[in-house]
Amino acid sequence: MENINWSNLPFGYLKTDFNLRCYYRDGKWGEIEVSTSEEIPIHMAATALHYGQESFEGLKAFMGKDGKIRVFRAEENAKRMQGSARGILMAEPPIELFKKMTFEVIRLNKRFVPPYGTGASLYIRPLLIGTGKSVGVKAADEFLLVFFVTPVGPYFKEGFSPVSMLVTREYDRAAPLGTGKYKVGGNYAASLSVMKKAHDEGYANVLFLDAKEKKYIDECGPANFFAIKNNTYCTPKSESILPSITNKSLMVISADMGLKVEERKIEFSELSTFEEVGACGTAAVISPIGKISDIDNKKDYLFQAPGKISTKLYERLMAIQYGDEADKFGWIDIVE
Ligand code: PLP
Ligand code: COI
Repeated sequence: MENINWSNLPFGYLKTDFNLRCYYRDGKWGEIEVSTSEEIPIHMAATALHYGQESFEGLKAFMGKDGKIRVFRAEENAKRMQGSARGILMAEPPIELFKKMTFEVIRLNKRFVPPYGTGASLYIRPLLIGTGKSVGVKAADEFLLVFFVTPVGPYFKEGFSPVSMLVTREYDRAAPLGTGKYKVGGNYAASLSVMKKAHDEGYANVLFLDAKEKKYIDECGPANFFAIKNNTYCTPKSESILPSITNKSLMVISADMGLKVEERKIEFSELSTFEEVGACGTAAVISPIGKISDIDNKKDYLFQAPGKISTKLYERLMAIQYGDEADKFGWIDIVE
């Protein structure tokens, strides 16, 4: 504990004191259990293990200058987990249960919330899995909801410095009518090999195009994509991307800053017309993109990064999250 280097934390797992569990059995959610174990007992025929019945979330808590711990938009994550659960036939955790477990797991691990000014935060990882056994392909009748936390630094090791993205039409992440809009493990499994290819070739991640036509921009690995031009914040509208809560927030902040906001299909061919481009997400925050390489056509697209508007968006988002700016949109819960 004493030797955590808060200002230099990677985005990774660090053991903390407690995690929480709650079981869904016989058609109802049970009591919240506090655990110090890092392991979960699971039947070898559980649907999570065989048929991918699992969903996870990611949200953050921030230590303010005033010593208060703020959680960013927990209710949105709760709703999204409910959507993922409906999407793959799991029991939906009630919003109140999700929020209660969020606040409780932070309270129990208070000493792991990184100090103000270190640029780090406490990442909360809720996980919902099918624990009921089945060898036939069907939904479980028992589920486990787990909440653990880990202190983290930036997802892309570059932090708020330019990253580069790889584009290729040789892999798909999610089908248009598939599970791309849910936060379920299968989507990430599908992205692993092309992500490794990107990392091996020196890129921070992959910019996925739409799987059907390979014509439109979808998203950036574990983050949404946004672009700026003509005083406008543009971001892809797509059925196969995760509806990012960070992106949703940036659209509101952009409008508040006087930018136009467009959520629409974005053709890959429009890329060269943008003044700034970036990736956004809970883990990624905002990562300005300096280069996008279309390796199929051996063509690089270069951008000034970080651009002026991306920088302002980043600063305002962080100011709201750390409590340096008033929470005028009602996005923050203080953990008492
Ligand atoms: N897209 C994918 C595939 C993600 O995994 C994430 C991370 O949660 C995001 C986008 C960003 O979403 P959010 O801003 O809600 O974290
Ligand atoms: C997040 O931004 O919360 C994510 O889930 C990204 C990634 C680590 C999967």
